[in-house]
Amino acid sequence: MLTTDETGLKRAADILRDGGLVAFPTETVYGLGADARNGQAVARIFQAKGRPSFNPLIVHVATLEMAQGIAMFDDAALRLASAFWPGPLTLVLPLRPKAGLSPLVTAGLPTIGLRLPDSKTAQRLLAAFGGPVAAPSANPSGKISPTTARHVADGLSGKIDAILDAGPCAVGLESTIIGFDPAPVLLRPGGLPVEAIEACLGAPLLTHQPNETPNAPGQLSSHYAPTAPLRLNAESKKAGELKLGFGPDDQADLNLSPTGDLVEAAANLFTHLHALDAKGAPIAVAPIPDKGLGIAINDRLKRAAAPRP
Ligand code: TXA
Ligand code: MG
Repeated sequence: MLTTDETGLKRAADILRDGGLVAFPTETVYGLGADARNGQAVARIFQAKGRPSFNPLIVHVATLEMAQGIAMFDDAALRLASAFWPGPLTLVLPLRPKAGLSPLVTAGLPTIGLRLPDSKTAQRLLAAFGGPVAAPSANPSGKISPTTARHVADGLSGKIDAILDAGPCAVGLESTIIGFDPAPVLLRPGGLPVEAIEACLGAPLLTHQPNETPNAPGQLSSHYAPTAPLRLNAESKKAGELKLGFGPDDQADLNLSPTGDLVEAAANLFTHLHALDAKGAPIAVAPIPDKGLGIAINDRLKRAAAPRP
């Protein structure tokens, strides 16, 4: 575990420079970072996560200028970046051929997912390192995403070089991913509500047509999965179940938001799933309204409840 003082950050940046793996906080979830230009370092991410190699990684940048050196931004992409970066938004854009990234990062695709995170610790790490950092969520592939350093340690300790601990993540859900096809298309709902993006663009987003190759984990049927089975839209719990509540709920073992606040619920989602999963019983989840961040919460819950491979 590294602390977020100057010494800790310098150590984390040095490990990245030496081709090591550093888990670091973002405002969405903890990421497992490696130098995006170093193929061996990037390969170690896949190895540590046990991740199918057809999944491309998000690259984190310190500035919009750095992002523009890596990918080509059209008007809509620039508008979204100006409005929402730093923040929980990933843009999938045409990769510049001479960007110097390892082809493993994009899994051979001609596009790249880029994100400028809002977390101060992430920004300080990216600035100290001074280059692009490839980072998927810092959890074993298919498991619940980590929103604390402890979650990262529980899933990956012994497989990575360091964890930078800055406490729990403020948003608690992965970034919203937008592609350009060439019109803006929603590839994964996430921590930035779809409504905010559509208001900024002045047009509705297209929704992704699933194709043969799953290129976002959101497209794999089972993902973000606790070990215990999950039952969705449960008004009340059955014998032996634990209840994950939303809104006023006497039966709730843990409640995403007793006041029914979707932002609070998003921030608590993975933390509460980790905590209930540790008890080992089946989990009944209360209905969540399908609007704002509720769209991303329901997306994650549906995948967590999907039949396991
Ligand atoms: O909030 C987040 O997005 C977190 C933090 C750490 O930044 N990261 C994250 O990464 O959720 P990950 O790898 O678990 O999910 C990102 C997904 C990838 O699995 C990938 O399928 C999709 O983004 N993606 C990345 N590049 C892509 C591309 N060129 N085309 C389509 N999808 C892409
Ligand atoms: Mg993930």
